[in-house]
Amino acid sequence: MLFKQKNKEHMKLDIRNSQANINVNKGSDFEKQFKMIGLTYDDLKVINALQPFVVEEIDTIVTRFYANLEHEPSLLGIIRDKSSIEKLKKTLKTHIIEMFSGIVDDSYLEKRRKIARVHVRIGLQTKWYMCAFQDLLLSLMDVIEKNVMQTEECLRAIRAVSKILNLEQQLVIE
Ligand code: HEM
Repeated sequence: MLFKQKNKEHMKLDIRNSQANINVNKGSDFEKQFKMIGLTYDDLKVINALQPFVVEEIDTIVTRFYANLEHEPSLLGIIRDKSSIEKLKKTLKTHIIEMFSGIVDDSYLEKRRKIARVHVRIGLQTKWYMCAFQDLLLSLMDVIEKNVMQTEECLRAIRAVSKILNLEQQLVIE
């Protein structure tokens, strides 16, 4: 226990080489939205610094995502009707990894609008969408807990990830 604690002091998130970019129209709702949730340039740097851990754990994250949908069998029915779990696992992997790019711009916004339209088309109810997002947040918190050892850094990472996931939800349920 002590040994683990001692090691924890040395593990900090390195944001020196991580990328971040916010490029949105001034005065747009989108700009107001991320300002209202306090998403900053530094948060995006933290998010991008987490990307390698997310890449490493992506299979676990996506497997858990689909296992969670088994609580509501109709969701798996929708997936089998409209697509396939194997295909969607690939799409979701790419999407989650891109979520950690540290870049928020018009293309980011447009992609989320398209994803929203896809889910409207398949008739996905908002409550199931929100459940999937919450489970994804918990899954990402596990990744942070496993890889970011220092308590303050861990909290910093969780704060940043909760913001980017919230922004994502705002855009897809709009
Ligand atoms: C498609 C992400 C929740 C079912 C997609 C796509 C992405 C995505 C990125 C590809 C969109 C495109 O073609 O450009 C997410 C995220 C979710 C979520 C981030 C929540 C955290 C769900 C849930 C279901 C679902 C709960 C359950 C039914 C589908 C289906 C498609 C799809 C069936 C393919 C539709 C088609 O190709 O016609 N999703 N999804 N998604 N998603 Fe989700």
